[in-house]
Amino acid sequence: MLERTHQAPPIFPGSQSFSTAAAQPVCATQGQASVCGRAIFQVEFALSSGRTNRGRTAVIVGAQWGDEGKGKIVDVLTQTFSVVARYAGGHNAGHTVIINGKKFILQLVPGGILRPECTNVVGNGVVIDPLAFLKEVASLRAAGVKVDGNLFVSNRAQVILPYHRMMELGSENAPGRVKIGTTSRGIGPAYEDKMGRRGLRAADLLDSQLLRTHIENACREKNMIAHALFNSDPLDADKMFREYADAAEQIAPFVRDTALLLNRALAEGKSIVFEGAQGTMLDIDHGTYPFVTSSSSTSGGAATGTGVPPTSIDTVIGITKAYCTRVGSGPFPSELAGVSGGAQGEDLRKRGNEFGAVTGRPRRTGWLDLPLLRYAGMINGISWLVVTKLDVLDHLTEIPVCVGHKVDGKETDEVPAQACGYEKLECIYRKMPGWASPTQAIRTVEALPKAAREYLAFIEKETGARVGMISTGPDREQTILVPDFISELGLKSG
Ligand code: GDP
Ligand code: IMO
Ligand code: MG
Repeated sequence: MLERTHQAPPIFPGSQSFSTAAAQPVCATQGQASVCGRAIFQVEFALSSGRTNRGRTAVIVGAQWGDEGKGKIVDVLTQTFSVVARYAGGHNAGHTVIINGKKFILQLVPGGILRPECTNVVGNGVVIDPLAFLKEVASLRAAGVKVDGNLFVSNRAQVILPYHRMMELGSENAPGRVKIGTTSRGIGPAYEDKMGRRGLRAADLLDSQLLRTHIENACREKNMIAHALFNSDPLDADKMFREYADAAEQIAPFVRDTALLLNRALAEGKSIVFEGAQGTMLDIDHGTYPFVTSSSSTSGGAATGTGVPPTSIDTVIGITKAYCTRVGSGPFPSELAGVSGGAQGEDLRKRGNEFGAVTGRPRRTGWLDLPLLRYAGMINGISWLVVTKLDVLDHLTEIPVCVGHKVDGKETDEVPAQACGYEKLECIYRKMPGWASPTQAIRTVEALPKAAREYLAFIEKETGARVGMISTGPDREQTILVPDFISELGLKSG
């Protein structure tokens, strides 16, 4: 509760006269007790100055091009973390969680949903397709998963509407445009509308009159543009309004001021995992632009995408596969492709089951790229790494790892700002000894083959981050937790 205030001396002497008791509520939130902005600020000040017992927080961020196994790792952390908040992307994500052989693929709903005691938040940084959200909720309900009272959508989250998909399809297939190889979910155009200040928020979706006007105006404009540019068939605004007004009624119970919810949870001592979607190299600013997604998938996005201040983020955990994959177009320096690598790449794809969780698209495969992992460490402030899919390399007697990049024959730490810059980039490989024995389902570091331990130690040495968790199979239980990681994050061992 917000009554918790700190006893610190005031910074501005005059502020002593503003006692909390005398403060009058100046703002109200949807369907909740009114709260005073000043009281929230005081909680925030107390939190940032370490004067309350606020909960722990950790950001889970993809350190590569997505699909690193974030879903599985978030699920493992929810054994002790009580809130999970998604901060970016939309239903372009596909996060797989396997519990005792039962598989769940989550797109918009955060991973904590699979533990009934967890609270789950779809933050303001997410773009939400109401129909996709309701479909996912329905399928979770059908699987017996609790979704009522423990799942909330930010009232500031942007809404994806059918014209976003129309614009994306037109643009992806238009002659002369760069084909990104998107997931065709309308993600990019929805973020464009957000930044263009002409988007629709979840709160607006619930306002029937506003929704009608918005859809009518937007359809008129988008239909004209899509017809002129891509010769697309027009969308029917009236039909769209009816469909989304109906969806709005079903979504209304989930919509909240989630920034307030999360900050309150922290002040009450609850711990939060910020669940990243996509990965560092798909980030709109820091990735392989323009072959990226349209949101801030790196750790900075956790603050802007949820309303929890950056000063409240304790730990950033980067997830990396023991090798590398990418789906869609764009640069991939350590890719196994062409005459020399194609067959090996195909082998890795088969062994790692590297096909999109939702789209089923084959993922491109390649070796671990340490310079890019170091870059991900720098951009995200990664302190712990989680290495997933170690078991996929079990058959190899030697494992090439990209240890450096060269441009024009000279080593460089700089990551190209232009996609064409990657064409000049050459990987320097070092062959690490493979372990050529099974690691699947191993649960302690000691039980790993020596060469596997050396592989992990090499990653630590080369990145400067510690490896806190190793995943040796897709199931929740097929996980190694390192003792220091357990104690820092307050996890249970074994
Ligand atoms: P996310 O988007 O980062 O959550 O990852 P995805 O769920 O899209 O893709 C990861 C895939 O690898 C899923 O099929 C997981 O079930 C699987 N997976 C995760 N960790 C492991 C692991 O350690 N070993 C193996 N063999 N598969 C894993
Ligand atoms: P998770 O969270 C892997 C890729 C698409 C495409 C590019 C842009 O499961 O790791 P978009 O539809 O976002 O405009 O597509 O980004 N992409 C992903 N690749 N994992 C994801 O999510 C992805 N989300 C988007 O393939 O190249
Ligand atoms: Mg995925």
